Amino acid sequence: SAAEKGGHEYFMLKEIEEQPDALANTLRGHFRSGRVVLDEQRLSEQDLRDVDKVFVVACGSAYHSGLVAKYAIEHWCRLPVEVELASEFRYRDPVLDRDTLVVAVSQSGETADTLEAVRHAREQKARVLAVCNTNGAQIPRESDAVLYTHAGPEIGVASTKAFLAQIAANYLVGLALAQARGTKYPDEVAREFAELEAMPSAVHKALSTMEYVRELARRMADSKAVLFLGRHVGFPVALEGALKLKELAYMHAEGFAAGELKHGPIALIEQGLPVVVVMPSPKGRAVLHAKLVSNISEIQARGARTIVVAEEGDERVRPFADELIEVPAVPTLLQPLVSTVPLQVLAAEIAKSRGYDVDKPRNLAKSVTVE
Ligand code: G6P
Repeated sequence: SAAEKGGHEYFMLKEIEEQPDALANTLRGHFRSGRVVLDEQRLSEQDLRDVDKVFVVACGSAYHSGLVAKYAIEHWCRLPVEVELASEFRYRDPVLDRDTLVVAVSQSGETADTLEAVRHAREQKARVLAVCNTNGAQIPRESDAVLYTHAGPEIGVASTKAFLAQIAANYLVGLALAQARGTKYPDEVAREFAELEAMPSAVHKALSTMEYVRELARRMADSKAVLFLGRHVGFPVALEGALKLKELAYMHAEGFAAGELKHGPIALIEQGLPVVVVMPSPKGRAVLHAKLVSNISEIQARGARTIVVAEEGDERVRPFADELIEVPAVPTLLQPLVSTVPLQVLAAEIAKSRGYDVDKPRNLAKSVTVE
């Protein structure tokens, strides 16, 4: 009913708006007496200290949450992090032992490939931590430990609020590891946590500017294909934006690392092709920002229609943006939490304009429990 959907036409649109709460609820209670605590877990401080390698295994959007987390965990912890599609991980022969931490990320906790990856990892004596949104689901039951995302039930088949909550939870894992290993001072851990805690309000602010994105979506509804480009943490955001568009609008959409442009994707650029570019902050690493500006000018010169997601006040990118979607300024590693939001809205609104069921896209299931 309309009431269940909070006045929205689709659950997904309601769930997009619930993202500030999903983040706040996922973070709540995880910082006490100056320390990050993962109290639902059964991994000791010593277990965390012993970790010498991290694997994140997952499918779909959950996999993208792992790709985002790799940047943060490697930077904070000085630990190698590999992010693997669960369906590939389990059929390889990944190098695992008792000092390997496998983080299995799953909204439903029932995805068949992720569950089998967990079983495989435990047989190899790795320690498995589930990041899950569903209490008592199979994946947390079979893992050594669990960190719950508290996004609330997600009805829309395409993940939104669970995805943002997964990023936050993965970051909590990173901070807990950094704290245990001593790769960050306690005051740095406290500062990073405080920055995470400020994200619900940043996401709320991002949501308040979505009218322009809805209008843009209506103008894009007839596009045949859309490319997405990003660098650094913007790269997995580009992948997630493309996935949302495929899932919901049945459009050919691909995400690329902007640095790969010259290795293939640039050949796809033709007059009028929409290309969504996820910009890094102009206040972050100058080289990243400059490289993306140059990528945008290259594709624009070849006729692409550039749709740029950039930090508010980013004047340098403005001349190259045919469409400019501004998101609030936040620390670099946290940008995916705000820059994903317009891409979710874009996909949902394009799907609506094309007359598709946003909550129940064709051929897809909320939880893939068969292989
Ligand atoms: C399906 C859903 C996606 C989800 C993926 C992984 O494909 O449509 O939205 O990201 O499964 O699901 P999980 O429950 O393991 O996070």
